[in-house]
Amino acid sequence: MNETLEQARALLENARRIVAVTGAGISAESGVPTFRGPEGLWKSHRPEELATAAAFARDPQTVWEWYGWRRELIATCSPNPAHLALARLALDHPEVAIITQNVDGLHTRAATEEAGHVDFSPALPIELHGSINRDRCSACDARRPGSPVIDVTSIDTLPQCDRCSALMRPDVVWFGEVLNEVILDRAFRLARSADLCLVVGTSALVHPAASVPLATLGNGGKLIEINIQETSLTPYASAQLNAPAGIVLTKLIPE
Ligand code: OAD
Repeated sequence: MNETLEQARALLENARRIVAVTGAGISAESGVPTFRGPEGLWKSHRPEELATAAAFARDPQTVWEWYGWRRELIATCSPNPAHLALARLALDHPEVAIITQNVDGLHTRAATEEAGHVDFSPALPIELHGSINRDRCSACDARRPGSPVIDVTSIDTLPQCDRCSALMRPDVVWFGEVLNEVILDRAFRLARSADLCLVVGTSALVHPAASVPLATLGNGGKLIEINIQETSLTPYASAQLNAPAGIVLTKLIPE
């Protein structure tokens, strides 16, 4: 890995504009389960029963039970050295954007840990798939911070909208739903103008998020991939660092 690490360091040093595109693998070392792989959530759970609008309409209690479990689990996790290293990079480097598929809020917490509580921090992520810690009304789209514990005893105990009384849902993007246009447009614009994309801990299987690194490549930029496995992006990477994100990123971006 040492030689590739040197290559990656050189790419990072020479880059003017950088985007970091992250997936569930960056939070694995925090104890947040990934989706795919032998221990991934989609091994034991069916996405169509838990992560679609149709599933929520059919059985909101089951959907909330699962998201409530994940919300509680994530609340016990902390940003790991990989989140903190990317936050440092974004704070130290004039043009870095963190774009994440994760809904766990750990990049945001890392930004706060590295920079303190500020209203704006360049280390705050662009969250493509929303946030598990926020609720959104299934009827009027009103949003609010989610409560840490969800009572799934009956449909009447599930979170309800203060404005229109309809059921609240987790503010995450489900399968079959379109991503927020403003957020997606910003992510692609940043990726297109970047000369380096750091892809960390994603299987690169879910689009449009998986196309964001391709936007950098398509405009002549380079790719560094950090993943414990190869992906469809590996052949395009100028450097592939095959090791856990926490280990690699602390070496690449030391304190
Ligand atoms: P996946 O679970 O599909 O992929 C996780 C990736 O992280 C895999 O490629 C692993 O090899 C890698 N990985 C695991 N541990 C790692 C570590 N310690 N260091 C580095 N890499 C590691 O997660 P995503 O690619 O984020 O969408 O999945 C994309 C989307 O699919 C998610 O946002 C979610 C899911 O269904 C929705 O729910 C809409």
